[in-house]
Formats: sequence, C-alpha cells, structure tokens
Amino acid sequence: MTFITVKTYEELSRKAANLIAAQVVMKPDCVLGLATGSSPLGTYANLAKLCEAGDVDFSAVTSVNLDEYVGLTGDNEQSYRYFMDHNLFAHINIRPEATYVPSGVSADPVEEGRQYDALIESLGGIDLQLLGIGLDGHIGFNEPDDCFTKETHPVELDESTIEANARFFASRDEVPRQAVTMGMGAIMGARKVLLIANGAAKKDILEKAFYGPITPQVPASILQLHPDVTVIFSEN
Ligand code: F6R
Repeated sequence: MTFITVKTYEELSRKAANLIAAQVVMKPDCVLGLATGSSPLGTYANLAKLCEAGDVDFSAVTSVNLDEYVGLTGDNEQSYRYFMDHNLFAHINIRPEATYVPSGVSADPVEEGRQYDALIESLGGIDLQLLGIGLDGHIGFNEPDDCFTKETHPVELDESTIEANARFFASRDEVPRQAVTMGMGAIMGARKVLLIANGAAKKDILEKAFYGPITPQVPASILQLHPDVTVIFSEN
C-alpha cells in the first residue's frame, strides 16, 4: 500500500486525477470503477480540465460505478447516475453508453446485482477502482457487517451513513434507506485501487482500516489484502 498525505483537498484532487489520467494514457480502453460523494468532486473537476486540455482521451474508456440508491431513477437529482452525468460524464469525452451505474429501480435487485457482476466480468474486470470511505469504514455501500459480501447486492444503509448523506438532501427523511452496491469481489478484483479521503474527521477510520485488524466491521480493512492500493489523504 502507498499512503500519501497532502495538505489540501486541491492537492489531493490533482494527484488523484493525475493517477487516473495516467491509467487512461497507459491503457486508453481501460475500465474505470468510479465513486460518488463529496470526496471525488475535485478529482472529477481536474479530470475535466485534463480532458479539455487534450491531455487525456476518454473516448475508449468504460466506467462502472460503485453504487446507487434504491428507489431513485437516473433523472432524479439525488441519484448517483445524475451525479455522475453532471459532475463528470458531461465534461469529458467518454461515450455515454459506456458508463454504467447499478439500477436503483430494478424489480429484482438481487438479479440486478448478478447482472452487474457479469457485466464487470465481461469487461475483463476493473483496471482502476476509485473509492471514498465512509466514517464507519464503508466502501461503496458495503456497511459494517458480520461478513464481507462478494456480489453486487442490495443493502440497508447504516444510520451513520444516512446522517452523513443527509447533507445532500432537503431533509434527513428524504435520504433513501437502501442502496445497491458493488460487493467486495469486484472491488478486490480491480487491478489497482485508489482511495481518497479528506478532512480530519476521516483520520481515525483510515487508521483503523489500514493499520487495524482486517474485519468486516471495518469494511475498508479488506483492502489491506489488495496488492496495489494507493490512499491519498488530505487533512483539509
Ligand atoms: C459513493 C460511495 C461511498 C462514499 C463514502 C464517502 O459512491 O461509494 O462509499 O465514497 O460514503 O463519501 P464522501 O466522499 O461524501 O465522504
């Protein structure tokens, strides 16, 4: 594992974007695993700049997102599909049909999960997976549990996650209680993992995840077993 500490969120965002851009330069038809939330916003803004400057070309890239809220369609402003379209895809030259986000409105979320995993497998797996981390140690929406779940699957969100994500909604009551998330199989199968976290509030959970015991109670701790993880942490 490579653990990089920087001073500012801007620095984190530039470094993360440069690592993702390098992946695309080295393998133009790569598969990027992408995340939502506040952490990657700066990274995505920097990727848009690099693309606009002609330094990186996303035309052959495929993306697979980690997760989606159950009950939200892609045109809902709170959905992760909407987030990706507006914060990244609209600003780079990726083909819209090559961007995948799990469906939050599938009648059969378990089957939806199976199909999502089959899709990732058919793409040859993920070359680089970008992750944020929740205050409870979740990655994707793999919440603390008694075991790690391998497959893409529906989950009940923890109260702390609902609380943390309420900032994106008009009220806490509007935060969906369930999500569909990529499981640990696809995440751990990614050839490279890049985890970004900013703010002093994330320091404790990073220490637990990367220097504490490997346990499903701290889902990100499984990444200690991954051969190629880079963590970028900024204190601000
Ligand atoms: C988002 C995701 C989540 C977030 C995590 C941190 O697709 O999978 O695991 O990365 O909740 O969120 P922020 O970045 O908002 O602190």
